[in-house]
Amino acid sequence: MTLTHHEPVPAATGDPRLPVLQVDGGTLPAARIRELLDSAGAVLVRGLGLASPADLARAARDLGVTPMPEREGFTSRDDLGDGVHSASHWPADEPMCMHHERSYAAEVPGIAMFGCLTAPASGGATAISDAAAVLAALPAELVERFETHGWLLARSYRDVGVTLTEAFGTEDRAAVSAYCDAQAITHEWLPDGALHTRQLRAAVVRHPRTGARLWFNQAAFLNERTLDPVVREYLLSLYGPGSLPFSTYHGDGEPIDEQAIGVINEVYTAHTVREPWRAGDLLVLDNLRTAHSREAYQGEREVVALFGDRVRLDGHVPPGTPPRPAL
Ligand SMILES: [Fe+2]
Repeated sequence: MTLTHHEPVPAATGDPRLPVLQVDGGTLPAARIRELLDSAGAVLVRGLGLASPADLARAARDLGVTPMPEREGFTSRDDLGDGVHSASHWPADEPMCMHHERSYAAEVPGIAMFGCLTAPASGGATAISDAAAVLAALPAELVERFETHGWLLARSYRDVGVTLTEAFGTEDRAAVSAYCDAQAITHEWLPDGALHTRQLRAAVVRHPRTGARLWFNQAAFLNERTLDPVVREYLLSLYGPGSLPFSTYHGDGEPIDEQAIGVINEVYTAHTVREPWRAGDLLVLDNLRTAHSREAYQGEREVVALFGDRVRLDGHVPPGTPPRPAL
C-alpha cells in the first residue's frame, strides 16, 4: 500500500491535501486509516474495488465502525441494509453545501464512510473542508457570537421534506415525542397536526481525541436563505414565517444575517479540497474534524454512505430550553 498526495485546489490556510491510500484489493488497512483520520481528518482508499453496499458494510466492520440508524436527516436516503444508505436524494445539478453529518443531533456520527459504486461522467465529487482551518479563518466576532450562544435549528414536518418515519423511524406520536425528549429536542404538535421542533447546539466543539477546536454546525447550510428564493417565498406564503421545513438562528433566537451566511460559505469555499471519484473508491471521514459537500454532476452517480461511531460531545447540548426564534 502506498500513500500519495494529489495536487490540491488552492486553500487559504492549513494542509489542503486529501491523503490517498493506494491498496491492492485485500484487507482494509484499518490501523493506518485510523492514524490518518487523527492526523488529517480524512482518507481516500483507492484500489479496494468496492462494488456493492455490502462491500461498504464490510469495510465498516473491518474498520471497527458501528453503524448508526438514519435519524433526523434533512433529505431522504434509501436504506440498503447493514447500516448502508444511498446518497441523499438531491438534484444532480444543484451542489450540496459543506456540512457535518447530523451536527444538530445530540449523538453525532464520529465517522462518515462513502463508497463510490459508479463514478459520474463529470463533477459529483464529495469534497471536504477541515473544520479546524475553517474555524481559524472565520472572523473573530462571528465566531465569538456563535461560540457564546450556539446555534438553533427549527424544523417543521409537513408534506415538504422528510416524513416523520424517515426522521424518527416511526410516525407514532408518543414514540416521536419520546425520541425528541431523549435527544434534547424541544417539540410541539401544531393544530394542523404538523410537528415543530427546536434544538439548540454548540457551534464550536472540541474534538474528543485530538482536542482540536472545530467549527461544527450547519447554521449556514440549513438557513432558510439557502433555499431557492422562489421555493422559500412559496413555502412562506403557504405556512408563514417560522414554519419552514428547516431554518437556523443564533442560539439566542436572533436571525443570522445574510452577510454572515455569505462569509461562512466563502470560507468553506476557500478551504475546499476535492478528489474526483473513481468507481471502487472508499472515502473515510472523521465527521467532527471534516465537513463534506456534494458537487453538481452529470451522468450516473452511485455513492453509498454509512455513518457510525456515535459520540456525545462535551458541551454540545447547552442546558435549558431553546428560545423561540425572533421572526
Ligand atoms: Fe452528508
